[in-house]
Amino acid sequence: MNDQTAPAGVMPAFRVAPGHPASLLPAALPVRALLAGTGGYLPRRIVTNDELAARLDTSDAWIVERTGIHQRHIAAPDETAVFMGAEAARAALANGGGTAGDVDALIVATSTPDEAFPATAVRIQYLLGIRRGFGFDLSAACSGFIYALGVADALIRTGMARGVLVIGTEVYSRILDWQDRSTCVLFGDGAGAAFLVAGGGSGASTDRGLLSTHLHSDGALGDILSVDGAVGRRDRPGVLLMNGREVFRHAVARMADAVDEALMANGLSHTDVDWLVPHQANLRIIDAMGRRLGLPSERVVVTVDRHANTSAASIPLALAEALADGRIRPGQLVLMEALGGGLTWGSALLRV
Ligand code: UT7
Repeated sequence: MNDQTAPAGVMPAFRVAPGHPASLLPAALPVRALLAGTGGYLPRRIVTNDELAARLDTSDAWIVERTGIHQRHIAAPDETAVFMGAEAARAALANGGGTAGDVDALIVATSTPDEAFPATAVRIQYLLGIRRGFGFDLSAACSGFIYALGVADALIRTGMARGVLVIGTEVYSRILDWQDRSTCVLFGDGAGAAFLVAGGGSGASTDRGLLSTHLHSDGALGDILSVDGAVGRRDRPGVLLMNGREVFRHAVARMADAVDEALMANGLSHTDVDWLVPHQANLRIIDAMGRRLGLPSERVVVTVDRHANTSAASIPLALAEALADGRIRPGQLVLMEALGGGLTWGSALLRV
């Protein structure tokens, strides 16, 4: 179609202005988001199952058997979403050999921001001494990190940014009903971050980087996992409500679909996957996903036993841990998947 005849409301196809130097054609743009570094932060205070069982009608045996969780980290008042996110992001940037000047954008996935605004991302931008670029928060509950990876990938592929900090930071202890044994034993606080940089591009031979991300949501299922209030509502700050069995059922089915979708989109099969880095909600769900991929448990990164469910922070924390201890090595293929309130779910494939 000729640009001049494009009907109203339809974007004309991309055209380079006549005389534009060939070196500026899209083929010369960076095409991949490479993982440069990761980092994490966990609150100082550890709360064991036995500590919860001392004040709730629950037991270490029940929690371990149903979830695989042994303990969780709980934030002190000074360990805010901003503070923890900044610590994780600072570590990711340093680990990736970057400085403040290399960051064009910050995307923070969180359902528990300290304030309605300024965005957590902008507060972190300031704390890290980043005086340019932009930052914003993204709300997709436990799928937040996968969503943020998807957005960062798009920013980098389109040339809007060359360095992006993707951060998951959560203080779920604020939105839990500590009398409700069916939810409060499941979650913990923490933050994880990844520093992504543009790589590849015209003529580049690398097959490293984010291969693809796959995002989904279905509002019809919003009520099976929700928070009945909002930041800043003094009358109704909100607590987390969950129909655990229903969420469990959807988690296994939807994440399995998202995993297949990611592999198919890249012409890969289960046997190509080196590592599964799943959202850490329940060891039974994680084991089911690992079995489905035919991966031995040594190839599945698990932190839920020590961190519990840290929502949008769980995947970057797990990724940071397995990269730091040398389990995940350069060149390996990492599959990430998550499901959370919304419902939201998705997957991402990354060659480290
Ligand atoms: O990150 C977002 C995604 N979230 C998830 O993926 C969570 C998905 N769901 C789950 O992980 C599981 O459904 C739970 C761990 C939440 C619950 O495990 P379950 O095997 O589905 O247990 P249930 O809800 O069917 O409850 C079994 C029993 C119930 O008692 P009755 O009705 O059978 O007498 C509960 O009242 O266990 C009881 N129960 C507890 N007992 C001791 C529930 N919570 C507790 C508890 N301690 N903390």
